[in-house]
Amino acid sequence: MSEQGLFSSDLISPAVTAALPEGYTARALRKSDYDAGFLDCLRVLTTVGEISREAFEEHYRWMETQESYYVLVIEDGNREKPAIVGTGALLVERKFIHSLGLVGHIEDIAVAKDQQGKKLGLRLIQALDHIAEKVGCYKTILDCSEANEGFYIKCGFRKAGLEMAHYY
Ligand code: ACO
Repeated sequence: MSEQGLFSSDLISPAVTAALPEGYTARALRKSDYDAGFLDCLRVLTTVGEISREAFEEHYRWMETQESYYVLVIEDGNREKPAIVGTGALLVERKFIHSLGLVGHIEDIAVAKDQQGKKLGLRLIQALDHIAEKVGCYKTILDCSEANEGFYIKCGFRKAGLEMAHYY
């Protein structure tokens, strides 16, 4: 039996699965993805730092207890050793407003450099959108740079508001 992931495989969009290139799989993050290049894939996006296996596993176990983190990966199974070539996360926020409404936050979308341009980014967003809808979110929001605005427009998002930040 294959290792259990961070969330149920019932939440994976069949349409996304069908649209992926041959040999590629969209699935929940697994603890063993530490050895499949998950952190290297994230390094396309920003600084990740040196994370030990122990720290990674502790963080993973904490996420499991929260039931609001949906970290998705795309695995390329065509290689001798299957590797993570794309990842993205959905964080579900539980609000008081809108009758205890749920809002999805899309975070940390990354596609390995040599895999960009194959619609994997689009499939990640479609898959996260599917999860958000299935778990009952009334909307999903994200922050991005101007350089990525065109990508998110192609994924069906539209500009809504202004991002502000306080760094500590
Ligand atoms: N600007 C405008 N259009 C774009 C861009 C862009 N930066 N990137 C892709 N597109 C277009 C593609 O041309 C394609 O258009 P088409 O349907 O007309 O052919 C469509 O968007 C889908 O593109 P994909 O092939 O799915 O894009 P890709 O797999 O390369 O993933 C991504 C895009 C995620 C931005 C990737 O380039 C990447 O990982 N970049 C580095 C990390 C990053 O910036 N991540 C996003 C941070 S924002 C956040 O995490 C919320």
